[in-house]
Amino acid sequence: MSLVKVTIDNIEVEVESGTTILNAARKIGGAVVPPTMCYYSKLEGSGGKCRSCLVKVAQGSTKDPRPMPKLVASCRTAVMDGMVVQNITSPEVMENRRAITEFLLLNHPLDCPVCDQAGECHLQDLSYEHGLVDTETVEERRTFAPIDIGDKIKLHMNRCILCYRCVMVADQLTDQRVHGVLGRGDHSEISTHITKAIDNDFSGNMIDVCPVGALTDKTFRFKSRVWFTKPFDAHRDCPKCSGKVVLWKKGDEILRVTGRKDKYGELEDFICNDCRFEHKENTDWTIEGPRKIERHSVISQNHYEKISKPEIQDNNS
Ligand code: SF4
Ligand code: FES
Repeated sequence: MSLVKVTIDNIEVEVESGTTILNAARKIGGAVVPPTMCYYSKLEGSGGKCRSCLVKVAQGSTKDPRPMPKLVASCRTAVMDGMVVQNITSPEVMENRRAITEFLLLNHPLDCPVCDQAGECHLQDLSYEHGLVDTETVEERRTFAPIDIGDKIKLHMNRCILCYRCVMVADQLTDQRVHGVLGRGDHSEISTHITKAIDNDFSGNMIDVCPVGALTDKTFRFKSRVWFTKPFDAHRDCPKCSGKVVLWKKGDEILRVTGRKDKYGELEDFICNDCRFEHKENTDWTIEGPRKIERHSVISQNHYEKISKPEIQDNNS
């Protein structure tokens, strides 16, 4: 595969041709990486839904240096040799990201104080960085009653931003998908065929991929704010998945089990429902040690590794 050079926010990087602008930016890392609300590297075909990753292509390529006429979704646009991209260095991109944030919040309730996703919600982070203090809309938000999707997952459709990640998890990880997006436009909603429960070994991953609090773990709901829990890497021998998880503990009690996420909030491995829902005893797991949350998050505020303090000399004795 041939290599191409692309410049993003004045930083040059070399990547394989066919790489998206987003993944080229991820190769650079840091602030030049656009936010993603729908793209998920482990889910084939994801991206192109939320527009939060829009960037400006100031130069198309060395061969054709014309700029692209509109902002493009970086998760869906491949780099060309000599391409020049602007993300945080473009006021136009920043202005559009603010507008996209406002658009994603159009129907989203501001119920972070009671939402289990608070503290690890990507939309909360996006709103913090780009949101407006006030809403400019007067229209009523669309509302749905919360429903159970099986006995372990709760769907709060009010909070859904229709990123399609959960649908892709069901499509790509399980044999039989029984839920999807029903309706079109303003009537679109995540739903199951009639009231069919989602019942397969990997359905719990929908909770982990949901960027907002639309899909939550019923075994954890309202037990604790996430920043009061302490994450630990742990593993067990599991015949269905890698068995590598994060245990979220309060004191000695395991309140929640999730997959391990990288700095972009994406799962390293999909885990099975047995590990996630059925093993909440310390004796079920080999605990490896405290989990560092790489993504900037309120959870990291709750730092709990032991700090060895220097001894204080008592000069009075
Ligand atoms: S429920 Fe969550 S993962 Fe599914 S489409 Fe809505 S926001 Fe995305
Ligand atoms: S992350 Fe690119 S459009 Fe959603």
